[in-house]
Amino acid sequence: MVRGKNILIGITGGIAAYKICELVRMFKKNQANVKVVMTEAALEFVTPLTFETLTGETVFIDQFENIERKPEHIALCDWADILIIAPATANTIGKISNGIADNLLTSLACAFKKPFIIAPAMNTGMWENVFVQENIQKLKTAGYKIVEPEEGFLACGTNGAGRLAAIEKIYDAVNNIFCGKKYLLNKKIVVTAGGTKENIDPVRYIGNYSSGKMGEAIADKAFEAGAEVVLISTVPFDKPYTVILTKTAKEMAEEVKREFENADSLIMAAAVADYRPIDVSEEKIKKENIDELTLQLVKNPDILSEMCKIKKEGQIVVGFCAESQNLEQNAASKIRKKGCDFIAANDISRKDIAFSSDFNEMILIDKELKVRHLKKDTKKNIASELLELIYDKDN
Ligand SMILES: Cc1cc2nc3c(=O)[nH]c(=O)nc-3n(C[C@H](O)[C@H](O)[C@H](O)COP(=O)(O)O)c2cc1C
Repeated sequence: MVRGKNILIGITGGIAAYKICELVRMFKKNQANVKVVMTEAALEFVTPLTFETLTGETVFIDQFENIERKPEHIALCDWADILIIAPATANTIGKISNGIADNLLTSLACAFKKPFIIAPAMNTGMWENVFVQENIQKLKTAGYKIVEPEEGFLACGTNGAGRLAAIEKIYDAVNNIFCGKKYLLNKKIVVTAGGTKENIDPVRYIGNYSSGKMGEAIADKAFEAGAEVVLISTVPFDKPYTVILTKTAKEMAEEVKREFENADSLIMAAAVADYRPIDVSEEKIKKENIDELTLQLVKNPDILSEMCKIKKEGQIVVGFCAESQNLEQNAASKIRKKGCDFIAANDISRKDIAFSSDFNEMILIDKELKVRHLKKDTKKNIASELLELIYDKDN
């Protein structure tokens, strides 16, 4: 987590400089201390006033301005836990990779010995330039973390590689460095994701709006933290860990039971249908001659309850619940009824979070009914926070 960390951001003279406002805001929201260094060229794109307002700190530009105690670049090196240069121009990348130190940012980059992240952004021609690529390779070999630019529409009107990586990606790269201690090593974590689909006939099903994004985020973060991850999902994902594709609640129940047997924990983020049609028609149901169609439903297995009943000493089971009212009371009653270790509860009446959104906000309740609020954030950040709370990372 970035909370309490001293983050130094170097902004260089690229058109993407304005995007760094959002990065600063994300760090500040997560209680990091942020200072900004700008190159002279960066001043052509964004004003120091913006960053001074966002950080509450003076923006540093000139290396000869304030040298009564320590030279500024050394004082900033001492202060920072991490240095991020974003956007990093071809020019600054060229200087850093060749040990050139002709302004405040490149001088401190030259002296900096702690984690260092570079997020290049430039026109495709510049990015593909053989010398720029050589410089990037040099930095990678020397252990600098490069957050690669993405392909897309560029400010110069062309389409191609060179666009600054998504701000969330840069944030994650920083967060991962601080969460980098693989605190879930040697743990097997089973995560479920997506909404189950209960067949009516070969072409129709009863489903729900779950996108699988929350389960995916939890699985990703558990994997990053060193866990052996099995994601049992109704949505296909291409991942470096095991993904088991299922469709119905019954199929999901079977896979969960098998994988949970030797797992350390189960996190049930999937939206599992409570009911399924009793009879699944083998042929497509035709509308001719049928004015009213009644589907008879039968209860599906309650995977969460079943796993809580068979869980062994030390195994952790986390359930999810989606409520449209009385979130805390309903979540507390669910944790008692099901017997799980934690319940993560979402308010599905909100349009800005949960289903299909990239954002979420939830409360996490433990067996002692202690409630923690996980404030609105990206599903990835919520997933990190959730895992850290479940595994009591700080202890
Ligand atoms: C409108 C405009 C946009 C620019 N955008 C970029 C860019 O995205 N990436 C880049 O490497 N250089 C870009 N440049 C060129 C840099 O500003 C130039 O190389 C400058 O010397 C970089 O200085 P610095 O690395 O000290 O910030 C741009 C120049 C102009 C005029």
